[in-house]
Amino acid sequence: MNAHEADDKIVLEASHIKKRFNLEAGFFANYGKFVYAVNDVSFSIGKNQTYGLVGESGCGKTTTARMIVGMYKTDSGIISYKGSDTAKFSRAELKDYREKVKYIFQDPARSLNPRMNIYQVLTSGWRWSAHWQNHQVAKEQAAAILEETGLSADDLYRHPAEFSGGQRQRISIARALIMQPEVLICDEVVSALDVSIQGQILNLLQDLREKRKLSYLFITHDLKIACYFCDRIGVMYRGCLMEEADAADLYKTAAHPYTQLLFESAQSFGTKTSGEVKTNIEELSGCPFAHRCPRATERCSKQMPPLADISKTGKPHLIRCFEAAE
Ligand SMILES: Nc1ncnc2c1ncn2[C@@H]1O[C@H](COP(=O)(O)OP(=O)(O)OP(=O)(O)O)[C@@H](O)[C@H]1O
Ligand code: SF4
Ligand SMILES: [Mg+2]
Repeated sequence: MNAHEADDKIVLEASHIKKRFNLEAGFFANYGKFVYAVNDVSFSIGKNQTYGLVGESGCGKTTTARMIVGMYKTDSGIISYKGSDTAKFSRAELKDYREKVKYIFQDPARSLNPRMNIYQVLTSGWRWSAHWQNHQVAKEQAAAILEETGLSADDLYRHPAEFSGGQRQRISIARALIMQPEVLICDEVVSALDVSIQGQILNLLQDLREKRKLSYLFITHDLKIACYFCDRIGVMYRGCLMEEADAADLYKTAAHPYTQLLFESAQSFGTKTSGEVKTNIEELSGCPFAHRCPRATERCSKQMPPLADISKTGKPHLIRCFEAAE
């Protein structure tokens, strides 16, 4: 369990963010129909804190992350960086935000340009920034960051294909670090790796967090990894946050039927659950989990349960469930 103590100062905050996509199928059939990917999600990440966003495939984790880095525009809600609404940023502020909040993708093989050498991969964003000085400075910096991430300065002129999956993920982390960010968004960064390599990358991320006082949004479908690695965890289902608590509380006293199902299935069959995750093609009116929930009552399919605080310790423990909150 992660014993790390994070700062209370909030760096990044999502407040009631929503996103729907046009449903693309058929010529006329789906005109005006949508996939409701993220439905009113709120959370905040403190300085030097790791916030885990956990849930099964399709629950809206990547869409949430992409809204935060501005790859998708929110339909509504606010994303704030150090207390300022990112939608109101000037061009210069937005440029700075994009340097300070960096996204690391799940699949380094696809996110690293195979034609570039590692020096070019690491410095291609930097070259067009106001901080660019010259190649000599860039080479020194790139070599130092490679060594910090467990690679070698000799790797600068090699190409991505010459590295293993774990090494390529180290290169992706180095590329994110070169602009001296404050927040890293890690989207399933260990899911494609073998278990032993996963541990090495998680240790590297933990060391970097301490050394550089970084904050992380750590996205994973694996609740056990999240409990080990994160300070606080939000469990998502069908675009909604179902439970949010400190990792240690969630591990010991998961209260939501969905979180309990995730823990049980991780123990019995790896990380797969047995039920089906429905795509939202209509706005949710009842509890998102009602179609799979063993405790569902009539009210559950008619009303959306509010997020209620069930904490007995002072740190909020939020759950969205009529039954478990009573
Ligand atoms: N660009 C898009 N256009 C249309 N629908 C999309 C788009 N991106 C995501 N979706 C849909 O939005 C929902 C949420 O997808 P998202 O990729 O955010 O889930 P996820 O939790 O990251 O899943 P995974 O664990 O598989 O990466 C899914 O139903 C998905 O099909
Ligand atoms: S509100 Fe109802 S359906 Fe939803 S998780 Fe709670 S008991 Fe289950
Ligand atoms: Mg995803």
